[in-house]
Amino acid sequence: MRLKDKVALITGAASGIGKSTSLLFGREGAKVMCVDINGEGAERVAHQIADTGGDAASLTVDVAQEEDVQRMVRETVERWGRLDTLYNNAGIATGGPVTQVQEEEWDRTIDINLKGVFLGCKHAIPEMLKQGGGAIVNTASDAGLRGTAWLSTYCASKGGVVLLTKSLAVEWAQQGIRVNCVCPGVIRTPILDPFIERGRELFSDSAEEAWERLAQLHPIGRVGEPEEVARAVMFLASDEASFITGVALPVDGGLEAGPPMQRLGGIDG
Ligand SMILES: NC(=O)c1ccc[n+]([C@@H]2O[C@H](COP(=O)([O-])OP(=O)(O)OC[C@H]3O[C@@H](n4cnc5c(N)ncnc54)[C@H](O)[C@@H]3O)[C@@H](O)[C@H]2O)c1
Repeated sequence: MRLKDKVALITGAASGIGKSTSLLFGREGAKVMCVDINGEGAERVAHQIADTGGDAASLTVDVAQEEDVQRMVRETVERWGRLDTLYNNAGIATGGPVTQVQEEEWDRTIDINLKGVFLGCKHAIPEMLKQGGGAIVNTASDAGLRGTAWLSTYCASKGGVVLLTKSLAVEWAQQGIRVNCVCPGVIRTPILDPFIERGRELFSDSAEEAWERLAQLHPIGRVGEPEEVARAVMFLASDEASFITGVALPVDGGLEAGPPMQRLGGIDG
């Protein structure tokens, strides 16, 4: 058990990547505080962990609200006496040409995806300092490493997460706090449902065909599964990553590395 007795706080735990990571952390022996704005969903995940012999609890939290974030850190420490890992993962995806993005949509995306990470770090770091260190992992995105048409708001929020991660890594390295982020490519989770629907409208095809179009963006030729991101998060959170801080780790089937081979005419042999 790679996370035995570590205390982990995971945001966006009700669904997708956060749910998979919560379940994996539970299996690996961590005590897991599952938080989400969807409190019932987070509670279901905590029960799933407990049903298989793990130790977990849940809270309803809006990561864009400072008092909620303070409460999630306080209640985790009250319950288990420490906080070893914070996984800032909650997020939303918004899209469209910049000329059509409403100011409220911009504010909401930045508030949840970027301010939420800032608030989590702001309130978790003092607790980690008391115990001599900790590990923070943030969910950025491949869309935080390069520009993507129609995703300018989302890209701006995730690009912010990448540089917030690097800045905090150097700010707290000497105090034993490591700060890293994962940059997923396209992962099969509900966050993409509206984009799949939009793709279907444009091409008049099935959801599976829409997913297949996204798959072909990746050199590996498929989209990722939430568990594949969860395993990268577990590594960055664990002591196995003890000399790794300030990293933005693509978990993306080669998407960030370059275009798929088939776009370049394929390869023989
Ligand atoms: N799925 C992908 O292709 C992909 C790719 C790159 C990055 N990401 C990022 O991964 C993270 C997880 O997304 P996912 O794909 O698992 O999607 P998801 O929709 O399955 O999960 C996101 C979770 O965040 C929660 N959430 C939303 N707003 C919140 C708030 N204000 N406070 C607390 N919780 C809130 C939702 O209720 C949901 O449970 C997000 O930050 C997303 O931007 C996803």
